[in-house]
Amino acid sequence: MKATTYDRYGGPDVLAVSDIPEPVPEPDQVLIDVDSASLNAWDWHQLRGEPRFMRLQTGLRVREPRTLGADLAGTVAAVGTEVSGVVTGDRVLALVGHGALAERAVARGGAMARISDDVPFDVAAATPMAGLTALQALRDSGRLAPGERVLVWGASGGVGHLAVQIAKVLGASRVDAVASGRNAEMLTRLGADAVADYTKDESPEGPYDLIVDTVATASMRTLRGLLKDGGRVVTIGSVAGTGLLGPAAALLRRVIAAAFLRMRHSGAIAKVAHGDLDQLSTWLTDGRIAPVVRNAGSLEDVAGAVRELEDGHVAGKLSIAVAPGAVRTSTRSGAASAAD
Ligand SMILES: NC(=O)c1ccc[n+]([C@@H]2O[C@H](COP(=O)([O-])OP(=O)(O)OC[C@H]3O[C@@H](n4cnc5c(N)ncnc54)[C@H](OP(=O)(O)O)[C@@H]3O)[C@@H](O)[C@H]2O)c1
Repeated sequence: MKATTYDRYGGPDVLAVSDIPEPVPEPDQVLIDVDSASLNAWDWHQLRGEPRFMRLQTGLRVREPRTLGADLAGTVAAVGTEVSGVVTGDRVLALVGHGALAERAVARGGAMARISDDVPFDVAAATPMAGLTALQALRDSGRLAPGERVLVWGASGGVGHLAVQIAKVLGASRVDAVASGRNAEMLTRLGADAVADYTKDESPEGPYDLIVDTVATASMRTLRGLLKDGGRVVTIGSVAGTGLLGPAAALLRRVIAAAFLRMRHSGAIAKVAHGDLDQLSTWLTDGRIAPVVRNAGSLEDVAGAVRELEDGHVAGKLSIAVAPGAVRTSTRSGAASAAD
């Protein structure tokens, strides 16, 4: 089968489309005919082996070709003996970590959820990692309560634009956003009450109960000035992705600053949770969340898409059409920018 693989750490140039053996599902896994995959910052971190401390887990070297891709949607082709709740032919979304950019992939039963017939595959594939991250950051790390005011800093990317929508679903009374001005219209359409353009040094108008931050570009002192008494900050990611520590360095600085400034701050790390994937799937069906998706091409086009993602200004999510000829919610030429 065809897959987008890499055999050493490096930039997008080390990616190639290869012919590799189909994966064989373990008893707790299902085999999926992949229709669509979506890209995440996670993918280029895996590809580069950056930040470097990550290699303690992923290996100091890539010894055998690896297939890129964490998020997918497709049709169940075979079900392991220990998996219940899905049958061959079901449409599913899944968070697999690696291996999504291939014609077939395996997913643990607990790392997938069924999707209804009217949710397009590319929309479903855009949801698992970014959706889980946004949901758990707001609900678990941020302890968002109905009626609270939320600010999403770095709101136009994969995680941020879902965080804006999920904050509203969880009952926030107001959700403001920080993003570049060209994405303001998209964010307003998704439910943001106000958008501060960071490229023009515009400042959000607090005070907020909760700030969820995907970029960690503001100082903690600045964030403190935007919070109500007792307000919380949740840091999800950072624009500094490489080096020895990458985003962990920004997180560490924030932890120290929060202690000095007596602020309530936590970092968020998404966990795979079947119940949460199911919840996201339900929200996709009833239209309460609608990921913004741009088709970035097929398996052959992944290198270009990863390059664009690494530049750090994709609006919404980039999707890869793995199965040829499938219906897409956006065409490559017709959606040059998700903000259009
Ligand atoms: N903790 C976890 O479990 C977890 C899970 C997923 C992702 N993450 C991390 O979370 C971060 C965001 O992920 P993502 O998937 O949303 O990334 P993404 O899709 O690449 O989005 C990045 C966004 O950052 C914005 N941005 C770039 N520079 C900015 C600045 N100076 N000020 C404000 N916004 C800026 C861009 O918005 P504009 O184009 O509007 O400038 C862009 O939309 C990454 O660091 C990722 O590694 C963490």
